[in-house]
Amino acid sequence: MDVTTFHLPDGTEVPRLGFGTFELSGEDAYRSVAVALEAGYRHVDTAQGYANEAEVGRALAESSVDRDEVFVTTKLKPSNATAGAVRSSMVDSLRALGTDRVDLLLLHWPAEHVAPLAETLEAMTSLREDGLTREIGVSNFPSKMLARAYELAPVVTDQVEHHPYLGVPKIEEVLRVRGGFLTAYSPLARGKVAADPVLKELAIAHDVTPAQITLRWMLQRPGVVTIPKSGTPERIRSNVEVFDFALSDDEMARVDALERGERLIDPGGGPDWD
Ligand SMILES: NC(=O)c1ccc[n+]([C@@H]2O[C@H](COP(=O)([O-])OP(=O)(O)OC[C@H]3O[C@@H](n4cnc5c(N)ncnc54)[C@H](OP(=O)(O)O)[C@@H]3O)[C@@H](O)[C@H]2O)c1
Repeated sequence: MDVTTFHLPDGTEVPRLGFGTFELSGEDAYRSVAVALEAGYRHVDTAQGYANEAEVGRALAESSVDRDEVFVTTKLKPSNATAGAVRSSMVDSLRALGTDRVDLLLLHWPAEHVAPLAETLEAMTSLREDGLTREIGVSNFPSKMLARAYELAPVVTDQVEHHPYLGVPKIEEVLRVRGGFLTAYSPLARGKVAADPVLKELAIAHDVTPAQITLRWMLQRPGVVTIPKSGTPERIRSNVEVFDFALSDDEMARVDALERGERLIDPGGGPDWD
């Protein structure tokens, strides 16, 4: 298994470890993305709703890393789910990001209260056909809704909360059958993994951190792409250093066993989860 890259059937290569930017704004967002690119991340996750696309764009533009070497994801605000707003807000996002194309455009949350899913996905597909995004996908879709999205459009991923305390097997199964990938958000359980006794024990054994154990566990499972966030330079750097050690089958099973159905991001009005 390739722990560094997910290969889509159409040839697109997705770096499996990306950099999350939720709650990073202004100079913090710019500086953190700059540190991340310097440290070796080649995948950056932003969103219209994070209000940091311009800072992410500035860090990309000023980096010595070629824009073409970085996989950039942004997400449509649910309020932009109508066909007209999908396109106009995407033009705004590209301008803010300082690029003429992103690699992946996601619908951030289900938005059928704004527009039918078919309308949103058709508009996203047309952006893909016009070259404004290389791939499209969804986020925060439970498995049945994801299966419906696959019937409507060439989506490639569902970005959902996933970490050692929250498994998403039904979503993973839909993606596996379709050749897509899971994008795990809040992979560090928003920092909680750092205090976990089992992860700490494994971390001592490998002379790494509990966060590195968690990220390595994800990368050793097929079909998972992950986007940890940090605003701390030292952590940004250590979180990407997960390619020179490996977990045994027994160690993988010990992390699997931490699952306890614990969801950390569940805003009112969200979907009915699996
Ligand atoms: N699609 C969606 O609806 C959605 C929702 C949530 C998140 N996301 C995406 O997923 C990304 C990651 O999720 P997240 O930001 O919610 O949570 P996360 O990556 O699981 O955790 C981030 C938290 O962990 C801390 N942290 C990072 N590295 C650490 C380390 N090595 N040791 C200890 N603590 C560490 C960070 O603190 P410091 O920053 O202080 O270092 C921060 O408080 C987001 O940034 C965003 O891009 C998407």
